[in-house]
Amino acid sequence: MTTSPTGLFLTFEGPEGAGKSTQIRLLAARLEVARLEAARLKFGGAAHLLTREPGGTPTGDRLRELVLDSRSRVSAMTEFLIYSASRAQLVHEVVRPALERGQVVVCDRYVDSSYAYQGYGRGLDMAQLRAVSEAATGGLTPNLTILLDLDPALGLKRAARVNTPDRIEAAGLEFHGRVRQGFLALAAAEPGRFLLLDAAQPEDALAERIWQAVQALLTPDSTR
Ligand code: TYD
Repeated sequence: MTTSPTGLFLTFEGPEGAGKSTQIRLLAARLEVARLEAARLKFGGAAHLLTREPGGTPTGDRLRELVLDSRSRVSAMTEFLIYSASRAQLVHEVVRPALERGQVVVCDRYVDSSYAYQGYGRGLDMAQLRAVSEAATGGLTPNLTILLDLDPALGLKRAARVNTPDRIEAAGLEFHGRVRQGFLALAAAEPGRFLLLDAAQPEDALAERIWQAVQALLTPDSTR
């Protein structure tokens, strides 16, 4: 698989309620400060870009509604293909162009969510998922994937405090347990790409650890 063209591609992954949104917000604030010190930094100058899956484009947002709607009746393969269609459009329309402009792109979920939710969670064949994902993304792989790991019992409780469960959140604790194990297996298989963090630790400590890892990729003498 190819890596990003010239910018830096960062993804956040994890089960429900792991605090991705909060950490993405904190990272974005630090990236903005770093941008103001542009001269020192390899990727300084261009603003970072935040996006999410499913969604992130007008077409992707329509697909997002479809796949998360509790009234949708979709097979596991249909579910995967909808996520993949949203991803293909996002990579084409947003992520690749931004990376080509040299931007730092931060994406809330990416292919690893499909492997964890539709592969480990729903039980779809991983080789098939990988082949389709490769085609959907043109093989675009993140430079760094931050995995916020959390017990799904805790995560689902946290998520339910924020909104009513969507179709995926409502899939049950056993399903979400498999998803979590899936994420851990993916991280173990690619330790060079993943930063695995315990999401139960305090927000500030998590943010600091994430910033250390991102900063190492931003500094000119880093090897990546
Ligand atoms: P979202 O509201 O964005 O949840 P979160 O804040 O946890 O990211 O909804 C996205 C849901 O879609 C989430 O339950 C994970 C699921 N999902 C998949 O099942 N497969 C995928 O490929 C992606 C990107 C997300």
